[in-house]
Amino acid sequence: MDVMTAIRGRKSIRRYRSKEISAEVLEEVLEAARLAPSAGNRQAWELIIVTGRDTKEKLVPLCKNQRFVGECSAFLAAVEVPGQRWTVTDLTIMMDHVTLAAYEKGLGTCWIGAFDQDAIGQLLGVPQDRSVEVCLTLGYPDEEPAARSRRSPRELFHWEHYGQRK
Ligand SMILES: Cc1cc2nc3c(=O)[nH]c(=O)nc-3n(C[C@H](O)[C@H](O)[C@H](O)COP(=O)(O)O)c2cc1C
Repeated sequence: MDVMTAIRGRKSIRRYRSKEISAEVLEEVLEAARLAPSAGNRQAWELIIVTGRDTKEKLVPLCKNQRFVGECSAFLAAVEVPGQRWTVTDLTIMMDHVTLAAYEKGLGTCWIGAFDQDAIGQLLGVPQDRSVEVCLTLGYPDEEPAARSRRSPRELFHWEHYGQRK
């Protein structure tokens, strides 16, 4: 699959089949995370992969009761390593790699930004000096949502100078 096909085809998935992801597929998706670029190649992030049913159930109320958090096959929590200016940027790039690699493997994802940072950190045993910055659900889709709209190129892009539109 070429990159633009994955970029065009990926949509947030909020309904999942109860199908396990094989170790081989999961490893390949995580390899896309590992290979993501980072500022100064510092790779100052860590990723917690939750597949256990009990923990996923406990995560639901900590994610504003988003039920699909408990129904996905794997829940990924990206941990910021402190003291590095670009860590949040780096871990966001890493998670986006995951969304596209997952799509190529027939998996769906949904970013999770609505969560209780302290409570998730506590549940997952994140050390005090680190924090979960963003999360992702991962699993085989049980829906085919329509594409959400995007702003037009004219709204988004300035050519050569701010305010110069095409
Ligand atoms: C940083 C971030 C946080 C998000 N948090 C949530 C969330 O907590 N729950 C949810 O259902 N979707 C969440 N989303 C998904 C967005 O709503 C979705 O990406 C957007 O509406 C565009 O839809 P699409 O992903 O299908 O293209 C989040 C997306 C991003 C990038």
